[in-house]
Amino acid sequence: MTSVRLPEKFFFATLEKSHNRAAFTSGDNAVDQWLKKSALQAQKKRLSVTRVLLEEPGTIAGYYTLAMGQVNFDDLPHTYARKLPSTLLPIITLAWLGVDKRYQGTGLGGRILAQALADCHRTGREIPFVAVLLDCANPGAKSFYQHYDFQELPGHPMTLMLPWLLLDAMMHGKT
Ligand SMILES: CC(C)(COP(=O)(O)OP(=O)(O)OC[C@H]1O[C@@H](n2cnc3c(N)ncnc32)[C@H](O)[C@@H]1OP(=O)(O)O)[C@@H](O)C(=O)NCCC(=O)NCCS
Repeated sequence: MTSVRLPEKFFFATLEKSHNRAAFTSGDNAVDQWLKKSALQAQKKRLSVTRVLLEEPGTIAGYYTLAMGQVNFDDLPHTYARKLPSTLLPIITLAWLGVDKRYQGTGLGGRILAQALADCHRTGREIPFVAVLLDCANPGAKSFYQHYDFQELPGHPMTLMLPWLLLDAMMHGKT
């Protein structure tokens, strides 16, 4: 598995019941509530997977959630869609991502995003999809993702995408 370099004492793990979710506070209530109330249930139902970034011995510093998804051909920018069939197209959704307030501004959000994208890329080499999509929880989140080259979907200002070709180029260090 491709792994992002992390500071000492930090490691990723797939979310488990034993992880202490109650203390997690990112500053965005929806991001917090997803982790505390819904992420584990959705994972048990095989709707999504949530991976937590832990600091030893077990503090949740941040997390991300990935799920399979589909996007309507008409919603994609013409430049990406023009060679694709005009139907529902396979995507991966970066459904949620958050960093606890105590750790924000220290580079962990960027590392969590890098790990999420590495997971997407590994999956995409086995099971193809056309892009990674996400819905921004708030304007701050939008500028964070735009910092990493995610682009708006036309007519959907809070939905951003990273096309497979760009993701693949990023993973091969071509951007
Ligand atoms: C958005 C969030 C994930 C950023 O995490 P973070 O740990 O503070 O970010 P980092 O310290 O890793 O910053 C990495 C890079 O992103 C940039 N960045 C961070 N937040 C940014 C923002 N809101 N807008 C633009 N750039 C931003 C940093 O300047 C840094 O850039 P650099 O590598 O060029 O120096 C975090 O603030 C958060 O969890 N917010 C609340 C929840 C949320 O909105 N989640 C996203 C939607 S689901």
